Amino acid sequence: MTIITKEDPYKIVFVCLGNICRSPTAEGVFQHLVNERGLQSYFYVDSAGTSAYHIGELANSKSRETAREYGIELRSRARRFEDEDLQEFDLIVVMDKENLENIKALDPESNFKDKIVLLREYDPAPGDGEVPDPYYGGLDGFQNVFNIVKRSCKALLDELEEHVKS
Ligand code: 4NP
Repeated sequence: MTIITKEDPYKIVFVCLGNICRSPTAEGVFQHLVNERGLQSYFYVDSAGTSAYHIGELANSKSRETAREYGIELRSRARRFEDEDLQEFDLIVVMDKENLENIKALDPESNFKDKIVLLREYDPAPGDGEVPDPYYGGLDGFQNVFNIVKRSCKALLDELEEHVKS
């Protein structure tokens, strides 16, 4: 990949199904890490869902509660991933294989396949490679998602930071 500069910030979007649990958590955590490292000018961070079920909603209250325990406010509103996002973003980071298939279906000629990845490819303990859907479960599922997202986002940013040219 090329270098990341202030003139050409790196655009990253996290993607799940509803854009109310996993991907807003990843957006909030990644932005928090970017801010902690003083890299705000170098990254543009967003999230989206492959479904239209929750468009316009704030993140799930259990996701917000969990993130808040770590000093992170989730403020995003759900939106649907659009065709144009394939072009727009430098990296499309997907939470599970079902949503990876949903995104790939928007790219039938595989023009963008090199920038579509699973978040847990970066996880030092990748498990089955997926961030599990916490929507129908209890708070422990949301806490598990937060922990997976936190260590995966840290590893992802560690890798990207090597390409930042100040
Ligand atoms: P998310 O979780 O994809 O992590 O935002 C879900 C949110 C909503 C639904 C499923 C998963 N739903 O079926 O409405």
